[in-house]
Amino acid sequence: MQSKHARAVSSLSEQQQKDGRCLSCHSPDQVAQTQASVSCETCHGGGQYYSPEYVMKDPELARLVGLVDPSEKQCRSCHDASSPSLRPFDFKESLKAIDHWSAERARRAARTEAPATPPSTAKK
Ligand code: HEC
Ligand code: HEC
Ligand code: HEC
Repeated sequence: MQSKHARAVSSLSEQQQKDGRCLSCHSPDQVAQTQASVSCETCHGGGQYYSPEYVMKDPELARLVGLVDPSEKQCRSCHDASSPSLRPFDFKESLKAIDHWSAERARRAARTEAPATPPSTAKK
């Protein structure tokens, strides 16, 4: 909710918030879905089925019910030469700036790699 994507529409003036030329990148789903700014669904597709937390914590299930991994090409549909960026869009670097998955993946990996209770400490 605090990310620049989540608040992209608020970078626009009141006048610009009615201008389709700005909304196409700053709030592409607003007209059709009343979903403002660059939302989860802008990148991941319709979230009707994957949005429950227990689904999103299960990577296979989430993708089975519609969560899409956005591609570099998808980012570049907005981060193109016309965007007011000082440096050309660097996909790898940009991913770091919006990372909201590494922490959960690390927790998941730790859970699956944790050794089972060794037999010596198991209650007899
Ligand atoms: C629908 C258009 C759109 C798509 C798709 C999009 N972005 Fe953005 N992005 C924006 C806009 C607009 C801003 C500027 C938001 C603002 O400050 O008003 C932005 C800002 C950013 C920023 C700078 C702000 C920050 O959080 O540090 C990064 C980094 C970024 N995007 C990375 C990405 C990556 C990586 C992808 C693909 C996985 C992506 N974007 C896909 C529109 C888009
Ligand atoms: C092709 C996609 C695209 C369109 C169309 C677009 N923007 Fe953006 N805009 C971006 C992206 C991407 C960024 C973020 C650039 C970055 O930081 O890398 C951005 C950033 C901005 C920012 C700076 C936000 C900040 O505070 O960091 C403003 C202001 C802005 N746009 C205004 C506008 C206005 C006004 C229009 C319509 C006339 C418009 N944009 C149209 C993609 C677009
Ligand atoms: C600018 C595009 C963008 C936006 C907006 C965005 N995400 Fe993501 N999300 C990504 C990218 C990129 C990945 C990493 C995908 C990969 O590894 O290929 C990701 C990964 C994820 C994953 C997968 C985690 C895993 O363990 O596999 C979940 C769940 C997720 N995002 C949920 C959300 C939610 C919820 C929101 C809204 C609050 C959101 N995302 C907004 C781009 C975005």
